[in-house]
Amino acid sequence: MSIGKEKLMAKQNIFLIGFMASGKSTVGEILAGKLQRKFFDTDKLIEGKAGLSIAQIFQEKGESHFREIEADTVKFVTNKNQAVIALGGGAILDSQNWQMIKSAGYTIYLQWDINLLVPRLMNDDSRPLISQRIKNLNKTEIIKLFNSRKNLYESADYSIKCFETDSPDQITNTIIKLLQLENEKNTCYSRT
Ligand code: S3P
Repeated sequence: MSIGKEKLMAKQNIFLIGFMASGKSTVGEILAGKLQRKFFDTDKLIEGKAGLSIAQIFQEKGESHFREIEADTVKFVTNKNQAVIALGGGAILDSQNWQMIKSAGYTIYLQWDINLLVPRLMNDDSRPLISQRIKNLNKTEIIKLFNSRKNLYESADYSIKCFETDSPDQITNTIIKLLQLENEKNTCYSRT
């Protein structure tokens, strides 16, 4: 597939957003490779900064401490140029974060049916929002958490509908096609 990297939209960064387990990190890394851009993953940056895993930060310091480091990390990544960034599922909840993200590049929501994500999440110990409350957090509650964020996710510039049969590579190619269309649109505008 010819990507036409040099032409791919000048608008700065590409932010992948979405609920936990939607594949933002995997797709982000592949996308960055294909576009030859730098890749940042806010959760990885946070873990590096804290010297602790996300689960340990939640357990030892609490969610509010995690959200503080996350806000600093969002500031850091929004100052990047032409990068691909995978954001933690809750990074967009803070309105200041969201404003900074929106003005620093394209936001792309990896949109999954929540019923496909629930089984992935139920078996995952690394996600403290789920695992700390796992005994009480049943499917209905995960869906409730998702529904409380859904509108915000859907306010991204673009939503990519993802299906069970989609590989991360296929999702990446869909994003690239979308960005190429965006680039063509901008090229047209600049010629008139
Ligand atoms: C969170 C999502 C996680 C991580 C943290 C909180 C959330 O990232 O940042 O556990 O609030 O949705 P992923 O979306 O990469 O799992």
